[in-house]
Amino acid sequence: MVPLTGHCGGADTAPPYYRPVGGECALFEQAHAHRLPLLIKGPTGCGKTRFVTHMASRLDLPLFTVSCHDDLTAADLTGRYLLQGGETVWTDGPLTRAVRQGGICYLDEVVEARKDVTVVLHPLTDDRRLLPLERTGELLQAPDSFMLVVSYNPGYQNILKSLKPSTRQRFLAIEFNFPDPDIEVEIVAAESGLAPERCKPLILLARRLRALKGQDLEEGVSTRLLVYCATLIAAGMPLDQAVRYALIEPLTDEPEVKAGLLDTVSALLG
Ligand SMILES: Nc1ncnc2c1ncn2[C@@H]1O[C@H](COP(=O)(O)OP(=O)(O)OP(=O)(O)O)[C@@H](O)[C@H]1O
Ligand SMILES: [Mg+2]
Repeated sequence: MVPLTGHCGGADTAPPYYRPVGGECALFEQAHAHRLPLLIKGPTGCGKTRFVTHMASRLDLPLFTVSCHDDLTAADLTGRYLLQGGETVWTDGPLTRAVRQGGICYLDEVVEARKDVTVVLHPLTDDRRLLPLERTGELLQAPDSFMLVVSYNPGYQNILKSLKPSTRQRFLAIEFNFPDPDIEVEIVAAESGLAPERCKPLILLARRLRALKGQDLEEGVSTRLLVYCATLIAAGMPLDQAVRYALIEPLTDEPEVKAGLLDTVSALLG
């Protein structure tokens, strides 16, 4: 079955914390208001999922999240006949449910999905806004509140897995990156409970480590790892240990690269 992180929203619950870093909230609102799909690209742990969860809650829409993988088929999204007590019963997939309920369908790491998935997305992401369900013979017209959001990490892309221009050019697109230091301090402090002045050196360190990306590292330290690190420190773990477990070990297995990272750490934090 498709991994699904269910329903989100409800006017009585506060949206999950999200610190805007640019015009992304306004863009999302415009995209939704004008029935346009949105593509979000950015490195791991920079806030893409949190942003979508936050916006779904703010707009009070049910959210259907699908983590795409290379076995994901169109039927995983649209639905299939399942055997139930001797009968075959049609069961909507997450995309179909999002269309029927007028919610948001969020396809995470969409480039991983198989090519037949894009065939399903095309009529849904242009001005037709249609979802054909071949197996049931239905042709669903997406209600105005339905929105499709997809995301991927361009850093991992290989040529075989990139989106076709005819797919990309059906979406508005926004690039996420790690926020400016002041904002990242604010986010890490809010998420971990560690005082902002104690978060500051961690963010400066992350910026130095991010500068090593490409030479030795596939990806720079994410905001997510900074939150982990600050959480350990807030709970009383000594700085050097928290840095090792949260900011060094998750990045690499190579002893030389690790040693280089630790040099950067001791040059900055002593
Ligand atoms: N702007 C932000 N506001 C609030 N929290 C943020 C923000 N950016 C990052 N975070 C923090 O970073 C963590 C990771 O973010 P998130 O899970 O959204 O990353 P992602 O971009 O979806 O990564 P991946 O590509 O690996 O799925 C969040 O759990 C949150 O603690
Ligand atoms: Mg994510």
